[in-house]
Amino acid sequence: MNFSKCGPLRGEVTVPGDKSVSHRSVMFGSIASGTTEIHNFLQGADCLSTISCFRRMGIEIENKGGTILVHGRGMHGLQKPDGILDCGNSGTTTRLISGILSAQDFTVTLTGDASIQKRPMERIMDPLSQMGAKIRSLHGNGCAPLEIIGSPLHGIRYLSPVASAQVKSAVLLAGLYADGETRVTEPELSRNHTELMLSRFGADVRTENTTAVIRPAAELYGQKILVPGDISSAAFFIAAGLLVPGSELLIRNVGINPTRDGILRVCRKMGADLTLLNENHGAGEPVADLLAKSSRLHGITIGGAIIPTLIDELPMIAAMACFAEGETIIRDAAELKVKESNRIDVMVRNLSAMGADVEETPDGMVIRGGRPLHGTQIDSRLDHRIAMTFAVVSCLAEGETEILGAECVNISYPEFYQDLARLIQ
Ligand code: S3P
Repeated sequence: MNFSKCGPLRGEVTVPGDKSVSHRSVMFGSIASGTTEIHNFLQGADCLSTISCFRRMGIEIENKGGTILVHGRGMHGLQKPDGILDCGNSGTTTRLISGILSAQDFTVTLTGDASIQKRPMERIMDPLSQMGAKIRSLHGNGCAPLEIIGSPLHGIRYLSPVASAQVKSAVLLAGLYADGETRVTEPELSRNHTELMLSRFGADVRTENTTAVIRPAAELYGQKILVPGDISSAAFFIAAGLLVPGSELLIRNVGINPTRDGILRVCRKMGADLTLLNENHGAGEPVADLLAKSSRLHGITIGGAIIPTLIDELPMIAAMACFAEGETIIRDAAELKVKESNRIDVMVRNLSAMGADVEETPDGMVIRGGRPLHGTQIDSRLDHRIAMTFAVVSCLAEGETEILGAECVNISYPEFYQDLARLIQ
């Protein structure tokens, strides 16, 4: 798909529902009793993979466009699927569902696409095995396909080596079925949607600093969930609004949970004119409208506890730094290497090809801003966030930018290109 430099972006956009919250609403609804009604569910390929896995385990799920009805069958109502469960491109589906499947009374095999089959699964296999799960990588390489033989579980105290909500959530979900308390301590706090939503469903879960504690549940209860707009999708419009001269964008109804809002803090620190309007808590998660106006940005250092709160936004932030004055250092972000693609490598290669001054480091990047960028051919490596990042960069680069595999945005934001085109004046 081809893109060219464009004029200012102006107007309003409502980004689709949050991916993390959408996944969890279907998963928890499936093992709750009663019906869970989900509004503003993200109809992206990843969340549809979660729906399809639970349908294959006997859960009736009605998908009526924006609204989903999950007819939960209770904590022990899942049935053995009649074949392999396909998690597609979705790490969240693969890792969270493994926590639930570890405790069922059947055996199941999980797999996904080529990218999923390269992503590390020891990070969930280790703690789940400590809890008594029988889980193995069928190719012996620590990746999917995974065979999970459901087993009785016991609570553990787990010191996670990574700040990962997927690891934390897999252990907490297994902990729902364990025979005692389960504690997960992370090096830094990762997104807490599992804790917030499980508590709404009636689970006994609490947080002590960077430790999440859960007690086994006899039953969860179906809920009405209003999914906030995804701040990770809003990030592309925040960046476009700040970077393209003369722009002013209002992004409506964005989730601003403090475990996800690092992008807002970083933009402000870089000098952005970014305002939060209409803040409210109506949906169980804090939301606000975001107003982004074109701004002169300067480089900063990004590292430490803020990293998990903006991990998926780092490709866009790295690209933004190319247009900021001075140096931006991103560190403590080695996790970027094990996302849908190696996002350090793919960002450094593609930004360099456009003329940027960017250097790879073992746990991040150093970007010296201010060089003009030019269009070229960009390989998205079928990573949705890379494709969207470079669609935004193309608005500022001289000439034409060709993005290979651009259609991969269907993972988290199927209407992204239409929304972007509509805002260009
Ligand atoms: C997610 C957690 C993060 C994030 C991913 C979604 C989640 O992954 O990158 O897009 O919904 O829990 P990690 O837990 O691997 O950091």
